[in-house]
Parts: sequence; structure tokens; C-alpha cells
Amino acid sequence: VRQNPLNPAGMTEQVTYTGPQRILSGIQPTGNLHLGNYLGALKKFTDLQAKGWEGLYCVVDLHAITFPQDPEALAGQTRQIAAAMLASGLDPDESTIFVQSSVRAHSELAWIFNCVTRMGWLEKMTQFKDKSGKDSERVSVGLFDYPVLQAADILIYKATHVPVGEDQKQHLELTRNIAARFNQQFNAPGFFPLPEGLIEGPGARIMSLKDGTKKMSKSDPAENSRINLIDDAATIARKIKKSKTDTLGDMPETVEQLDGRPEVANLVGIYAALAGQSDEQVLTEYGGKGFGTFKPALADLAVAQLSPITQEMRRLLDDPAEIDVALAKGAEKANALAEPIIEEVRRVVGFWQV
Ligand code: TYM
Repeated sequence: VRQNPLNPAGMTEQVTYTGPQRILSGIQPTGNLHLGNYLGALKKFTDLQAKGWEGLYCVVDLHAITFPQDPEALAGQTRQIAAAMLASGLDPDESTIFVQSSVRAHSELAWIFNCVTRMGWLEKMTQFKDKSGKDSERVSVGLFDYPVLQAADILIYKATHVPVGEDQKQHLELTRNIAARFNQQFNAPGFFPLPEGLIEGPGARIMSLKDGTKKMSKSDPAENSRINLIDDAATIARKIKKSKTDTLGDMPETVEQLDGRPEVANLVGIYAALAGQSDEQVLTEYGGKGFGTFKPALADLAVAQLSPITQEMRRLLDDPAEIDVALAKGAEKANALAEPIIEEVRRVVGFWQV
């Protein structure tokens, strides 16, 4: 029996889901992808693909329009994210790479989930509070409903595992709540799995290069706060060299000494995530050395990892036919999985069958 932290007193669910294990994750086509998106998401996707996981990866354009988007630009932004997925190493033959709005069942399941989700659950969502700011009366209803659609993205494929950055933890708890509530309300134990997040790892929360207490974010107006996937090598090196540190001296020798040094901890974490090492290993090599040694090493490592991806993204975007073929194939595969599941849902809910 597992308890859901969003509703500790309430629902429990006997874990009886016995279907196949499957991964789903999504990325919004808004703004430029940055190092946080790469380490928190894209890199994990390709690592999981290499381990043989069945994975579905979608560009979530339905989520993007929770804030107004330029209709002329949206398809281009969607293609950019798909290019980043392919360039990072996702293979359209092994994984399913697709656009959310190409699979209409996401929206249908989201509506059904709207009628299962309680207002009180959504009112607890910190991302909504952050994104709506002081003006929550004027943002779209879609922004409030955003996490319900995210639950539908995952459960329309009965996905069991969701690789994401730490900022998505609460949305995953909500997804489990919705799954458990649906199973209980419709007397369908084990119908939906209660998906697990795959969050752990040094890349789960990459912070701004200018403020170690703030997440690296697409929407930060300070361009130097993030490394974009499309930055060239010189820009990456410059941003790392200019990144904020502190006045507490050289690189610490131990992980404990990273306490109270959020900017330094972030740089060590970035190095660790890129190199596939632990923070300890990074400090074994660089502890006691100056930032004049560490920062150039980090810049070299970042450039070595990111520039092949950037180059491949540029190549794909120059002649996007390859991207479009991959997305068409992905839409077909995703629809083939989602259709029988939405049919089952319709039966469980009691909808009219034609
Ligand atoms: P989005 O588009 O904001 O971000 C895409 C992925 O990047 C991760 N991420 C980070 N990881 C580490 N450090 C950071 N600074 C950082 N910033 C972003 C995010 O955690 C995410 O994994 N709601 C989702 C999109 C979504 C989704 C889904 C995800 C829609 N449906 C279903 C998983 C499953 C979002 O806004 O991601």
C-alpha cells in the first residue's frame, strides 16, 4: 500500500498494476532549451534508451498555449525541440518521438481527469503559484489545469516511469493521486499505474549561473544565467568564466564544505552531471584548486559535450525533412498505443459505444 503525500490522510492504493514498464516524458516548445533541460531531461532520456527502456518523448504544444503563443512561430519551436531530442541521441526507431497535439487522446483523457481531480489538489501546485504571480485572476484556466493535462500525457500510455527534473516532483505526485482516484472512483483497481519519477542524479536541479538559489530557467531575463543548447563554444566558455562564485576562497575539499556555497555547489554539480561523476569525485580532482583552474576545465567539458549536439541540431534544422519524418512516425506509433487505452477508458467511464 502506498500513501500519497498530497493526500496523506486519504487515498491509499494497493499497487496491482501489472502492465509493461514504460517511460514517458515531455518538453515544452517555449524558449530556448538550456543546460538544465539537457541534464535534467534529455540526457536521461538517451541514457534510458541505451538501457533498453521503451520510451515515449513528446513536445508538449498543448501545454505551451497555456500562455499566448505566436501561431506563426509555434510549429517552428516545436520542430526545434524535436531537433534537440534527435540531436541528443534519441533514435526514432527505438523511441517514440512525437508532438502532443498529434495524439488527440491526450486532450480527451485530460477532460475525463478534470472530472476526477479536486480543486484543492490544483490549488496546492507551486508551479501555478509561481507562474501566475500576483495576477492569478487573469491567467488562463489552462494554466491552472496544466498538471491535469500532464497526468493525461503520462497515463494515456499507462507509463510507469517519468524522467524529469526536480521541479516536476509535485506534478508527478498529482499524477499518482489522479490515477489512484480514477481507479477507485470507477472501481477499476490497477487500471492505471501510479507512475514513479526518475529524478535522482546530479542534473536534477541545475541552478542559474548568476544566482545559486534560483533554478536555471528559460524565462530568466538574464541571458548569462543559463547556457543554451544553441550557444556556440565561445559563448559557453564565456558564460562559465563569468559565472558567479563567492569570496570564500578556492574550491572546497569536501562535499560538506559546499554547504552555504550555492554557486560553487551548482558548478560542481554541473561538472559531475556532464562527466557522469559524483560531487566527491569532482572535488577529489579539483578540491583546493582555484576557480581559474576549475572554470576553464568545466567550460572545456561543457563544450565537448554540447557542441556535437548543437552542430547536429543545426544540421537537422537546415533540412527539417528528417525531423518531420521522425515526428510523423512517432505520431503513428503513439496513436497506436493511445487508441486502445482511451477506448478502455471510455468503457470504464460508461460512455456511449457506437
Ligand atoms: P519544461 O519544458 O519546463 O522542462 C523540460 C524538462 O527539463 C527539466 N528542467 C530542469 N532540470 C534540471 N534543472 C533545471 N534547471 C531544469 N529546468 C527544467 C524539467 O524538469 C523537465 O523535465 N511540465 C513539463 C513538461 C511536461 C511533462 C509532461 C513532463 C508536460 N507533460 C509529462 C513529463 C511528463 C515542463 O514544463 O517541462
